[in-house]
Amino acid sequence: MNTILVAVEFTVKANSKLVALFGLGALSLLGALGCEPPTQTGPKFLANRVYSLKAGTQNEVELDPTLADIQVVLDEYFGTAAEPKIPKFFADNSDFAQLLDLEKLKRACGADPSIPRVESVYVKNCINCHAWEGSGRGPGSAGVDPYPRDFRAGVFKYKTTVRLAKPLKSDLAKTVRYGLAGSGMGAYDKITETELNDVVEYVVYLSMRGELERKMIDYAATEFDLSANPPTRWVKEEGGKLIVNPEQQETLDGFMEEIATAWHEANNNLIVVAKPTDMPVLEKAPVSWDEVTGNAELLASVNRGKELFIGQAAVCSSCHGPGGLGDGRTTDYDDWTKEWTARINVDPTDAEAVIPFLLRGALPPKTIKPRNLREGVYRGGKTPEDIYRRLRHGIPYAPMPAITTVASNDEPGLMEKDLWHLVNYVLAMPVEPKPWPVAPATPAAPPAPVAEEAAE
Ligand code: HEC
Ligand code: HEC
Repeated sequence: MNTILVAVEFTVKANSKLVALFGLGALSLLGALGCEPPTQTGPKFLANRVYSLKAGTQNEVELDPTLADIQVVLDEYFGTAAEPKIPKFFADNSDFAQLLDLEKLKRACGADPSIPRVESVYVKNCINCHAWEGSGRGPGSAGVDPYPRDFRAGVFKYKTTVRLAKPLKSDLAKTVRYGLAGSGMGAYDKITETELNDVVEYVVYLSMRGELERKMIDYAATEFDLSANPPTRWVKEEGGKLIVNPEQQETLDGFMEEIATAWHEANNNLIVVAKPTDMPVLEKAPVSWDEVTGNAELLASVNRGKELFIGQAAVCSSCHGPGGLGDGRTTDYDDWTKEWTARINVDPTDAEAVIPFLLRGALPPKTIKPRNLREGVYRGGKTPEDIYRRLRHGIPYAPMPAITTVASNDEPGLMEKDLWHLVNYVLAMPVEPKPWPVAPATPAAPPAPVAEEAAE
């Protein structure tokens, strides 16, 4: 099956031709692909062929030769799946020398002789979903909804830092230890503290490596002269082997600097959570509605939160539905999907249009569901501080927007206090007496822009 598909891919580029030539029903092909991840035998980092097709399509260039060169550079910088390496750029720079620890990486993936590869923490527990290279395209990924995360975009959702800042390693450790409730990402509560730290290190490593790959793809797509003879290349031949092209060294150093700085500065980007002192804030989800009604001030706050939730100021209900059942706007996608579909004018619902991407390892697009807030299940934690962080900074790369805070209700945005009213309401939603209104059949209009635009 795989061989045929690969042959098809190289024979015809245009997907309309693909269907016409082979008479294949797009849907049956989709179905077949869903359970056919790229074969991966030994430890191996597969190239980001989906992102390179995306960048190639966007810029009308053929990037496959460049993508092969990029793997040579990535091996030089980060080593291989069998033998990881710390980029020299980090080791040479006192600010970045502590960013990654080689001992931890080696233990995490079994490159340390003291640990059999199959027993190493990442290989044993994670590759089935996240894959060797962290693409989220492991053999078990297709059946999971939402799909396992692709770490290579360098974006993480559940963290204590502001929207697009890197997470702290302790945030990632929390995700791995406790899992993401209500998703396929389970809690790894049996692994040792050493294994936990090792695997977090490995996730950061894969994320950095993946980001460098994406940056190199984008740069080649826009800045390289790929049709020249010879074309611009990331590598050059020397003594019969390929080495990093010295002409590109400065550009590569620039990318490494960006990646390293972002991780290095995560600590300076913590979300400030200052609970107000002049209003009640629930300590945790109330066990009954009486707990809310028994405190007049708290009830007033919850009611104000509800008014905001449904009203135009916070527009929560446009996605989560008027009753918060997660039934408002259910047709949207996350950015991992949008980047190779909607953003480059590929309709994610057009089975035929997405085929070239699926052939290169993408999973069939699935919509992202706004949370059903009546269930009281949160992936990013259930304390009021956790909920505050989610509301204030949203969920990056997902439709859940950040909120702009303002000094007065005359400006568009929400006052700090309103955010805490919303926190109270969210925490109280599971115990609020029914009826919980269901969304009308026609989907709500896209929300008004309260969200801060994600600053890249
Ligand atoms: C059964 C599949 C599966 C396995 C096995 C798995 N994960 Fe995940 N992982 C997921 C899914 C699904 C998500 C995305 C959930 C979401 O976006 O809501 C995820 C997300 C993540 C995230 C992103 C968290 C964030 O803040 O965005 C990290 C980090 C992660 N997993 C690490 C790991 C590690 C480390 C292991 C092994 C110890 C592992 N996962 C094993 C399915 C899996
Ligand atoms: C544009 C659509 C949209 C709007 C507007 C929106 N949300 Fe969300 N929200 C989502 C989506 C989608 C998710 C799930 C994201 C994911 O799983 O990655 C989500 C997740 C959440 C979560 C779960 C966090 C967790 O840790 O699991 C909470 C709580 C939440 N939203 C509350 C709100 C509140 C309160 C508002 C209004 C201030 C709001 N949302 C506005 C789309 C939206």
